[in-house]
Amino acid sequence: MYLEYWGLKEFPFENVPNPKFMYYSAEFEEALIRLLYAVDRKKGTVLLTGEVGCGKTTLSRVFIQRLSENRSDISLITNPSLDPDDFLKEILYQFGLNPGSVSSKSDLLNMLNMRMLENVRADRSSILIIDEAQVISKETFEEVRLLLNFQMNDCFLFTLILIGQPELRDIIREIKQLDQRIAIKYHLSPLSAGDSARYILTRLKVAGASRKIFTASAFDEIHRHSLGIPRKINNVCDMSLMIGFVAKTKTIDTDVVRSAIKDLYQS
Ligand SMILES: Nc1ncnc2c1ncn2[C@@H]1O[C@H](COP(=O)(O)OP(=O)(O)OP(=O)(O)O)[C@@H](O)[C@H]1O
Ligand SMILES: [Mg+2]
Repeated sequence: MYLEYWGLKEFPFENVPNPKFMYYSAEFEEALIRLLYAVDRKKGTVLLTGEVGCGKTTLSRVFIQRLSENRSDISLITNPSLDPDDFLKEILYQFGLNPGSVSSKSDLLNMLNMRMLENVRADRSSILIIDEAQVISKETFEEVRLLLNFQMNDCFLFTLILIGQPELRDIIREIKQLDQRIAIKYHLSPLSAGDSARYILTRLKVAGASRKIFTASAFDEIHRHSLGIPRKINNVCDMSLMIGFVAKTKTIDTDVVRSAIKDLYQS
């Protein structure tokens, strides 16, 4: 493959949410700070939205990594298209609890409540992260809303982080009682042209690049095509490195990038 040719140790543009390859744009940093602040200040509910492929899932992984392990108890739901009961059970499973034969809703809720109270006593934060929240059904959203009744006199028992595509904002706006309880909102936008170039350079460096591979005009072309969406940038860059390797080019210039885009999207 192309690794040796470009002097790389690893593939730089894999579409996986690997914190090692993180690029921290100012926006990304701000979103991360808001999430950490929400947990620290027990703010209740956070809504994180962003365009498809912009880095929401990646951000959630970095966030989890930043939380102190022994001071947080996390339940991460990545596929929330479940009916209300299975949804509750999934939350318990992801907290490491086993609902086993417990099937009545009140027992399930009780189990969850006990765990959260236990965490309060141990000075640990309970955090429920729901990714792809735009696919949650109306009935299950109602369950989510009811979970927010888990409060003590002066604080929330847990931090709820809802992550999803832009339509999630509209879905939540419709559920007024939930909407009013969202303390922090953040919308992750695509990268600017400057950030797109720095993003590419960061990933190349982590992968072991020691020389200039992409030309300045190649960066412009990639941004024009990807509109700053990291998943698209990854696809174009990976294909460009492949095409450049096969054609034995010295660098990745606009022509190589255009061929890559053609290969990926226009054939
Ligand atoms: N800030 C970043 N630094 C490094 N890589 C990133 C960053 N943001 C996104 N990526 C890369 O882009 C890919 C797509 O990002 P991610 O899956 O997090 O997007 P998403 O917003 O969750 O998309 P979807 O709406 O489809 O769920 C990731 O696999 C990752 O490789
Ligand atoms: Mg995602």
